[in-house]
Amino acid sequence: MLPETASQRIKELSDKINYYNDQYYQHDTSVISDYEFDMLLEELIKLEKEFPQFRTPDSPTQRVGGTITKVFQTVEHKYPMLSLSNTYSEQEIAEFDTRVRKALPEVKVEYVCELKYDGVAISVVYENGILTRAVTRGDGIRGDDVTNNVKTIKTLPLKINAPDIPAYFEVRGEVFLPLDVFEKINKEREDIGEPPLANPRNAASGTLKMQDSSIVARRKLDCYIYSLLCDNSPIQNHCDALQLLKKWGFNVPTSYIKAHSLAEINEYIKHWELERFKLPLGTDGIVIKVNSYKQQDMLGMTAKSPRWAIAYKYKAESASTILESIEYQVGRTGAITPVANLKPVQLAGTRVKRASLHNANEIQRLDLRLGDTVFVEKGGEIIPKVTGVDLSKRPPHTEPIKFIDRCPECGSMLIRKEGEANHYCPNEKGCPVQIK
Ligand code: IVH
Repeated sequence: MLPETASQRIKELSDKINYYNDQYYQHDTSVISDYEFDMLLEELIKLEKEFPQFRTPDSPTQRVGGTITKVFQTVEHKYPMLSLSNTYSEQEIAEFDTRVRKALPEVKVEYVCELKYDGVAISVVYENGILTRAVTRGDGIRGDDVTNNVKTIKTLPLKINAPDIPAYFEVRGEVFLPLDVFEKINKEREDIGEPPLANPRNAASGTLKMQDSSIVARRKLDCYIYSLLCDNSPIQNHCDALQLLKKWGFNVPTSYIKAHSLAEINEYIKHWELERFKLPLGTDGIVIKVNSYKQQDMLGMTAKSPRWAIAYKYKAESASTILESIEYQVGRTGAITPVANLKPVQLAGTRVKRASLHNANEIQRLDLRLGDTVFVEKGGEIIPKVTGVDLSKRPPHTEPIKFIDRCPECGSMLIRKEGEANHYCPNEKGCPVQIK
């Protein structure tokens, strides 16, 4: 881009963004969608990076509350961020219980069962009651300092007003994008022909790593807290920690229980298997933790995960239905995304009538035919995917699906670049969807 053009575009973008910000913050009016706003701001950030001579001190990218972080600093965790070992069956949970009881003979063992929230792990440091730092998990030893972005999360207290708080403590939790916000973003993307974001976890993680915290603030991230770490802890068990955290103003979900037997753990698993789909975020399992800190210490840990906790993961829900047609969407960049239109089917608590197919390779790999009975699955993704075909139900005389060769919007011949999975419409300047 020529410097004059860049300078003009920077001015244009700044004026627009200032106007939309004013409408949004002062008049509570969203003139444009969050997604369109993000796009404008990101374009401005990019241009200013390329042409720093045109960045003005009052550019909306420099706004108070919109701190720009160029590179996230890597910081070491005071307490390493461990991971959990996973199980997929009641049998494995029984084995976990046996291991725990064997290591703790002659003592009563109490567990806490919680949901396993599907977001991005975060560690938040408080010094003298003030939120001073928020760090991603990273490799467990070191993570990225994303304090400015995390501070935009409304449910995370910036200051704690309570007597006797430890001078230094950390809380651990899961940052997530509420499902309704995620769906809204995807609806907006779909309206303008952009491929949808794969799942809320990626969306949350991408948002946390954004450079401008004013965009992050608009994304409405939330955070559930599930543990408290400090030296000389004022409490003796995990359950008391959850209650204390709640009292201090943290967003601690109320879905946890104390369990004293395998039967109670299994009941919790069954209860949440379908109930979890009513929650505002994705959950992919439950976590079982030994309640007493003393017992946790006695059990210790393996190289990566504690011996006092384990995750139980639910199997991905799947259903079978009929593939009625394939629709081709043209994205802003001209990329063509095939989408399967399905006979509506109930899956993981929602009615599914569309599933993503990604690209031509995927259609070929699955050897899809119209009228096929297909399996759809909802894993971590919100948009279900077609995972296979029930060949025993294939109707006679079907033909493999032929990927379109012309753009459904403007009729141009599609191209497929060497080594790329996607087809593209090359008509950047004339294709109505690309122009829009
Ligand atoms: S406790 C040492 N509790 O799962 C155990 N983790 O694989 C520390 N997660 O990185 C984690 N929900 O991001 C714990 N209720 C919960 C959780 C939870 C989700 C995530 C967390 C962690 C990963 C462990």
